[in-house]
Amino acid sequence: MTLRMLVAGNWKMHGLSDDIAEIQAIAAAAREYPDVDVALCVPAILIERAARAVELPIGGQDVHFAEQGAHTGCISARMLRDAGASLTIVGHSERRDAQRESDAEVKAKAEAALACGLDVILCVGESLEVRNSGKAEATVDAQLQASLPTEHGVARSISEQLAVAYEPIWAIGTGKVPTTLEIAAMHRALRERLILQYPEDGAKIRILYGGSVKGSNAAEIFGVSDVDGALVGGASLKRDDFIPIVAAAAETVEASGEAA
Ligand code: PGA
Repeated sequence: MTLRMLVAGNWKMHGLSDDIAEIQAIAAAAREYPDVDVALCVPAILIERAARAVELPIGGQDVHFAEQGAHTGCISARMLRDAGASLTIVGHSERRDAQRESDAEVKAKAEAALACGLDVILCVGESLEVRNSGKAEATVDAQLQASLPTEHGVARSISEQLAVAYEPIWAIGTGKVPTTLEIAAMHRALRERLILQYPEDGAKIRILYGGSVKGSNAAEIFGVSDVDGALVGGASLKRDDFIPIVAAAAETVEASGEAA
């Protein structure tokens, strides 16, 4: 099944108010590719300004699982929405590692975001050690199974609200990318898990690839089956690096006929 492609940028801890101009440049250029969904997940303090400045969906990079309360420094799903976000990343490996976030916590965050009407990009991925042990698919499948939301109480279907991003930790920011066969095998395993978990909608949930995606490798990655877009870090910061990735997604859509 060909799904509508999603190319989402993750600005991580980059961006000041001056960079709203770059977000505007990205949004203006992205309008040229109406068959591709494009979103930018920016630092929390830029969300409100970015969301006011552009029509492009703006997202957070993390969310707390609680509705409110004594959680110093944390941001709730309602706060993200209030600031103008329409989506959020959860479970990025930089948070799973540095903030020791567990699968259960990631799942609770995804559920809190969905309950509030935010779309979710849920990240999973293996370390180099796991990849070299030959257990990458089993490990990432277990991680996904334990992180997937079971509660998603708003009116839209789960496939409209949730995307999964496969991001091998060893490929993030390193310039290294798995082979297309490795990506295909992992995305197939994740697709099977999604169908098991959501029999009605699992085939329609987008599975993004993330980790050193650039304009120069995007077309090859988008050509892999069950790759429905990308989560892009470093190359999302500048329009001139990011838009070629969006263009590659648009070309993939065009080459495969009408997207679902
Ligand atoms: P990268 O980051 O594109 O800079 O490798 C991807 C990510 O962490 O989402």
